Amino acid sequence: MAKNNVLQTFKTEISKIASLDDLLLLETKYFGRNGVLNAQLKNMKDLNAEKRKALGKEMNQLKYKILESISKKRQEIVSFGQKNTIDVTLPGKKYASGSLHLVTYAIEEISNIFEKIGFIRMSYPEIEWEWFSFEALNMPKDHPARDDFETFYIQSPTNQKYGKMILTPHTSSGQPREMMRLGKPPIRMINIAKTYRPNWDASHVPMFHQFEGLCIDKRINITHLKGTIDFFAKEYFGQDRATRLRPFHFQFTEPSFEVDITCDICAGTGKVADGTKCRLCKQGWLELGGTGMVHPTVMKAGGLDPNEFTGWAFGFGVERVMMMKPGVGLNNMRALYDGDIRVLEQF
Ligand code: PHE
Repeated sequence: MAKNNVLQTFKTEISKIASLDDLLLLETKYFGRNGVLNAQLKNMKDLNAEKRKALGKEMNQLKYKILESISKKRQEIVSFGQKNTIDVTLPGKKYASGSLHLVTYAIEEISNIFEKIGFIRMSYPEIEWEWFSFEALNMPKDHPARDDFETFYIQSPTNQKYGKMILTPHTSSGQPREMMRLGKPPIRMINIAKTYRPNWDASHVPMFHQFEGLCIDKRINITHLKGTIDFFAKEYFGQDRATRLRPFHFQFTEPSFEVDITCDICAGTGKVADGTKCRLCKQGWLELGGTGMVHPTVMKAGGLDPNEFTGWAFGFGVERVMMMKPGVGLNNMRALYDGDIRVLEQF
């Protein structure tokens, strides 16, 4: 090959190359022992000193030009590969898919159930005056019933009428709040909110949630209460579940009850298949929460006339009912707030 053509030919050849393998072959073709460049030097020994020197210089320049363009090409191939090659053998990326927290999910389910029967979801202050949580609910300062609602106090000035500020120990403060907000019945509200009491064990956490229903109108009676609680229990736990009202005492309701629901393990019988006692409920019933007919004193505190209106209220724990739902299988309430993602990943 004539010397002048060497560079020309090389340029055409390298322009067609797109892989490192082909580039290596080309490099060998030019620089190998029997390569193009060595072939050019074959006749060198027959030349006189002057010509030899000239040829040597020319060949060196050619060599550097070729080397330079090979290394440029290598760079090109490598950086192009980095940007555009998809390695289909790499394992795929997994993106974590989230889900609602169990408590958030339960709150949505509960509000949907009550929405179906015309209850309006309401919110009231979580940092509240003592008066709305206690005095208005017929629990004066020294009443021992107040001890059942152990309370977190806020450092705040004391208001003459409303007392100190607290973190709501129950959602019942929503009762006088709603009566005062509306001014007159009908009232059908559901208050689902955070509640606080200083307890920490398998079935108590210091911050938990309650849902409180309040229904006030003319001629409201216990049958409406029982019907509503039955509706909720069947919607939330299953159509085969039944409820009962068991006499109890609360300062803010008269009469007062605790609500029980049939146990789903023994279907309300208290006995399992082999005739032994059900270990979950012992006598067929599980406790849901408190309820009763709104006390006339509470009605008055909320600005309503108890001779004209009657009503009922109930207050249940969100975490508690959620943990009682068949299939949830959670036996430690603290697990809900430990922040361990593995708990939530199971649902
Ligand atoms: N506030 C009560 C509690 O936290 C529950 C309750 C609400 C009882 C409404 C009666 C009526 O235990």
